[in-house]
Order: sequence, then C-alpha cells, then structure tokens
Amino acid sequence: MMHAVEVKRRLGEEDIAEIAALLSAVEAADHHAALGEHQWLDLVHGGRTGSAGFVARRGGDRRLLGYAQLSRGQGNWQVEVAVHPAHRDQGLGIELLRAALAEVKLHGGGHVHFWVAQAGEADDAIAAELGLNRGRELYQMRRLLPLESGLDARADVLTLRAFRVGEDEKAWLALNNRAFAHHPEQGAWDAHTMAAREDQAWFDPAGLLLAEHDGRLIGSCWTKVDTPEDRGLGEIYVLAVDPELAGEGLGAALLAAGCRHLAGVGCDGVMLYVDASNEAALHLYKSFGFAVDHHDRAYVTDVTPLGT
Ligand SMILES: CC(C)(COP(=O)(O)OP(=O)(O)OC[C@H]1O[C@@H](n2cnc3c(N)ncnc32)[C@H](O)[C@@H]1OP(=O)(O)O)[C@@H](O)C(=O)NCCC(=O)NCCS
Repeated sequence: MMHAVEVKRRLGEEDIAEIAALLSAVEAADHHAALGEHQWLDLVHGGRTGSAGFVARRGGDRRLLGYAQLSRGQGNWQVEVAVHPAHRDQGLGIELLRAALAEVKLHGGGHVHFWVAQAGEADDAIAAELGLNRGRELYQMRRLLPLESGLDARADVLTLRAFRVGEDEKAWLALNNRAFAHHPEQGAWDAHTMAAREDQAWFDPAGLLLAEHDGRLIGSCWTKVDTPEDRGLGEIYVLAVDPELAGEGLGAALLAAGCRHLAGVGCDGVMLYVDASNEAALHLYKSFGFAVDHHDRAYVTDVTPLGT
C-alpha cells in the first residue's frame, strides 16, 4: 500500500504538535524514546543544513501515521523513523527511509546511519531491503544510586562549579568539541546547538558541572533529569574531559560528582548512552558498576550524490 510521504525542510508549530503526538504514541507502545533527543531538538530549532523531517499520511483526514527525521552530523547523516503502533507492517518504515535516502542523494550523498532503538528482526529486514548493513551499536547503561562510598569519594578530588548561562557557553563548546572531535554527532556543536538545550524545560545549570584548573575549563559532567515527576532515573548527559588530561582520573571524578548530584536531587537510578566502541568510556562506566540495559543499532550505507 502506498502512502503519501512529504518532505519538510522546516517544521511549523502545527507539524511539531502533530509529530510530538505521534512520538508519544510510539513511546507509550515501545517503552523507549522514539527519536534521539539531540536530533529532534535540532530540527525543531531550525536544524543544521540538510536536516529534514518526512511525514507519511493517509486517508481523507490525512492522518499522520509515520515520521522520519534526517539530520546532518560531521561528515555523515543520521536517519530515524517512527511509525504509529497501529500502522506497522504496512511498508511505512521502508517508504520513509527511502524518502530520507533520496534526500541525502539530493544533498550531495554521503555516509548514512539509520538508528533503531532496541533493534529487532523487522528492522533488519527493512535495512536489508534498502541495502543497508549493520554498523555502530550504542549501549544504554544503568546503575542504582547512590554510589557506594568508595566510588562516591572519587568526586572529592575536584572542586566543581555550576555552569553560568551567558558566560560559559564558549568555553564549554570548545571543550566538548575537542573531547568529541571524532564523534559523528556529539562533536561540532555550535552556539545554536547549545542554545536549543538551554531552552529546554529540563535544562538546569546547577546540573551542568564544570571542573577548572587555573581558570581554564578542563572537564565537565552534564547531568539531566527529565521532569520533576520523573525523578527516578537521572542521566549522565554529556561527560567530557580535555583530551590533553585524559587518563588522569578526571573522568572518574566527574562521573562520581555527576552521580552524587543526581542522587542529591532525588534520583535513585542513573543511565547514560555510550558508543559500544568507546573503550575508555565503557571501561570507566563498568568500573562504576553500570550495566548494559539495552542497545540501539545503526544500519549504515553510502549514498552516491545525484548525477554520479
Ligand atoms: C571517557 C572519558 C570521560 C574518560 O575520562 P578520563 O579522565 O580519561 O578517565 P580516567 O582517567 O578517570 O579513567 C577512568 C578509568 O577508565 C580507564 N581508561 C581511561 N582511558 C582509557 C582508554 N583509552 N582505554 C581503556 N581504559 C581507559 C582508566 O584506566 C580508568 O580505569 P581504572 O579506574 O580502572 O584505572 C574521556 O576519555 C573523554 O572525555 N572522552 C571523550 C568524550 C567521551 O567519550 N565521553 C563519554 C561519552 S559517553
């Protein structure tokens, strides 16, 4: 069955409300976020060049049945797809993905990651149909809070301060972009990317912890608590250490401080996302008792530009 898939290079208020309702239905059915938050925020706030949303509709009332989101990272593209739980197995996922790949082709082609949360056989089939192969894996890791006293004490080697809105953005972005220089999504943040996070209801400067040495920012642990009602599971949102100081215990101290902060605001658990190939971070998190809760998978392909 064919559906009408329309590309949206900018999202209006109405689009956002409609897509948000679809995403809530997907989340309620699947028990995980339908889209990566970074990508969704970027698109809602105007997005990086080449970012786009795709809406699939059907019927006289043109009801929204599925949504795909394409975002441009550093030298690559990311696609995510969400199909309404009542309209699965009807080819919508494939149509949306195909439309996104066509858009990549139109905008110069390149390496594409198609991210799927808790990927299963249906996702393998969709990817295979469009010639994508299995690529990166992302773990969501969790542990209970508070930390045991030995781990908690690792925070004591640092004096941290909270982020100051309007003052610390530039230094924080420089640190983040150096620490994540080789990371496809987390690197290359700019003032716009930062401002979009600061605008969020969950943003709390008190939870963005900074470590300085001689007035220079050397590391940071950004914690996140979604909503006051959802205090249970806090998140280590971004953990970054100046690459010149890696391996000196700073990451462990910042992680301990982030966990201490989350426990202090009432969280009884903490989770984080980490690339399965990030050995340094995985080692650190395992040594802190984090265990893999589930993993997300990226399927990859290289799209040739139009006209080649
Ligand atoms: C991951 C990161 C925060 C670790 O910070 P760090 O200050 O280098 O780590 P520490 O010195 O505190 O080391 C913590 C543990 O990890 C281990 N570790 C550090 N670098 C490692 C590496 N390259 N490979 C394997 N283990 C490593 C240390 O041996 C230590 O383990 P131990 O306590 O058992 O001795 C830091 O490398 C970083 O900012 N990386 C880039 C950004 C990033 O990937 N953030 C995490 C994203 S989820």
